[in-house]
Amino acid sequence: MTSTETIEDIRQRVDELKKQRNAVILAHNYQLPEIQELADFLGDSLGLSQQAAETDAEVIVFCGVHFMAQTAKLLSPEKMVLMPEPGAGCPMAEMITAQQVRDFKAEHGGAPVVAYVNTTAEVKAESDICCTSSNAIRIVESLDEETVLFIPDSNLADWVDRHVDKNVIAWGGYCPTHARMSPETIAYMLEQHPDAVLIVHPEARREVVDMADEVASTGGMVKFARETDAKEIIVGTEEGLVYRLQKENPGKTFYPVPHAVCPNMKKTTAQKLVASLENSQHEIDVAPEVAERARRAVERMLEAS
Ligand code: 13P
Ligand code: SF4
Repeated sequence: MTSTETIEDIRQRVDELKKQRNAVILAHNYQLPEIQELADFLGDSLGLSQQAAETDAEVIVFCGVHFMAQTAKLLSPEKMVLMPEPGAGCPMAEMITAQQVRDFKAEHGGAPVVAYVNTTAEVKAESDICCTSSNAIRIVESLDEETVLFIPDSNLADWVDRHVDKNVIAWGGYCPTHARMSPETIAYMLEQHPDAVLIVHPEARREVVDMADEVASTGGMVKFARETDAKEIIVGTEEGLVYRLQKENPGKTFYPVPHAVCPNMKKTTAQKLVASLENSQHEIDVAPEVAERARRAVERMLEAS
């Protein structure tokens, strides 16, 4: 690929390669605009897991972060799962290890562990059930036990705790991108855009969540943006989502929060996507003994969703 190639040239190349390989491209809502344009399916973590479980393609190219590609592999073990940029990790997923889950569970009398999908396969393997930000409340409510351990995101755990009639014990992890959104910045934006409504992701800090008109996953935000009568919307999540919201709702104006950028979500480029399809790089695999137990936790979530 040369630097003079247009996005149309790249699209043609990607289309050819997709046909040759019988491949599908899944991308998260935070990806760069050109990746969003090249994707066959663009969505939130739950939607992406469902797509990965259902696709007929032989190859899944995952444009997102590592735990998402791992989850796709868990759900489609017979397929080749590729990540154009294998160095795209999620710092929150690194905030708890499998041993720490075992210790956390033992400290709390074996209470069930609900793992946010933003975890490694090894951590999922030690967990009872997974959840995403779009179904976390429903998943926690679906459990019989009164006390539930929630890992790793303490902010999402706090949001869930306030909506369920259970004792939710949180691990202390967090998303650095969402945690960076300060109530002062949001207050300033609301002052600048007095007619705007504020939507916030539950990975944000409680002070920011409490300022919101709507708290939702990125998929929930897509739905809200479509259905609201508001003409201006402040988007309290990673800024990549704004491209999709603006494209799908040309009559409305969306304001990103300054500095709400996840560097890992921006590592996948169109060039790396083409190379991935051309050369089968980089293949994601999960050790079978880990995969079997991790898959159970993800499948329990999909059954309860
Ligand atoms: P959702 O798209 O599921 O809301 O997840 C947000 C996120 O931070 C993924 O890393
Ligand atoms: Fe992880 Fe946050 Fe980036 Fe999502 S936005 S991948 S939770 S660091």
